[in-house]
Amino acid sequence: MDPYKMVIAVANQKGGCAKTTTAVNLAAALARGHKKMGLPPAKVLLIDLDPQGNCATSFGIEKKRVKKTAYDLLTNDLGEELPLMDEYLIGPEDLTASMRNAWMLRNEKGRPPATLTTENLWLLPSDIHLSGAEIELSHKIGRETRLKEALAPIIDNFDYVIIDTPPSLGLLSINALSAANWVMVPVQAEYYSLEGFSMLMNSVKMIQRRINRNLKIFGVVMTMVDARSKLSRHVCDQVALSIPNKLFSTSIRRLVNVAEAPWSGAPTVLLNKPTSSGAGAGSLEYWTLAREFHRRVQDMRREFGVRDPSRVSLEAQGRR
Ligand SMILES: Nc1ncnc2c1ncn2[C@@H]1O[C@H](COP(=O)(O)OP(=O)(O)O)[C@@H](O)[C@H]1O
Ligand SMILES: [Mg+2]
Repeated sequence: MDPYKMVIAVANQKGGCAKTTTAVNLAAALARGHKKMGLPPAKVLLIDLDPQGNCATSFGIEKKRVKKTAYDLLTNDLGEELPLMDEYLIGPEDLTASMRNAWMLRNEKGRPPATLTTENLWLLPSDIHLSGAEIELSHKIGRETRLKEALAPIIDNFDYVIIDTPPSLGLLSINALSAANWVMVPVQAEYYSLEGFSMLMNSVKMIQRRINRNLKIFGVVMTMVDARSKLSRHVCDQVALSIPNKLFSTSIRRLVNVAEAPWSGAPTVLLNKPTSSGAGAGSLEYWTLAREFHRRVQDMRREFGVRDPSRVSLEAQGRR
């Protein structure tokens, strides 16, 4: 796979380091785009490979309303042919409707903010059944590359495919790291994170050697940073030393708004206008991360001499 095709696994074997939060907010921000920030809208597919199914909840989708999931996709045996992934996806209209519904359930008065919409985002959800997939897959042919096969026919419809992964290196994470060419690593700014971080680096090396030579680290982002804490700063410095070029200059502070957004049924970047302090602080940090992410992609494409304008702008040109 060409390096400038962007299939990104958000991974870290450590639980609770903001993998889902980062995957969901990056996906929502890249899909929406932000004119003032110089971030064009893009077509994004978000894949949830964690049986906890938190990606759907982050968009206000009730778990019991999810029908087809990543589980059906990975374990389905239609002969050797995997089903087209298209029919499994929750599209922009449904995502928008569920975010607005969730908002109205929690706010008796008023109308949902105008920002609570998404036009270019699709979600392949998961649910608890996916935890059974690890066992079911274990005796199936091509068990490590099923997601990759399922993605192949539709990958060119998207500018970015972002895969949220569970906190372990089982078959689900291996499927994510086999389908991806890039890994984005959120690292929580706390002591035990350093151990988890080196474990992940070893796993990535192992996958590179055995299954997916194309896999590379795209970047590391520090999350839940507390600027006043010495330990928090120490962990950031250590990570910066071990992977000097990969650390994003944007880091995400520990903020109540970020933690509360899933409860409100929408990613913080769509729920709150980005502001330098107050309610929109977490939104601003994730928007800034999305912009840095986009710039890195642009720089890399320039390096390879490719122009790959966003599919959203290509479609707009086509309509003109
Ligand atoms: N920047 C942040 N500030 C405060 N809480 C956060 C932040 N990022 C994530 N959280 C909260 O931390 C918990 C773990 O985050 P999550 O994204 O689910 O991690 P993971 O997917 O790695 O398990 C969640 O309750 C989430 O809302
Ligand atoms: Mg998660």
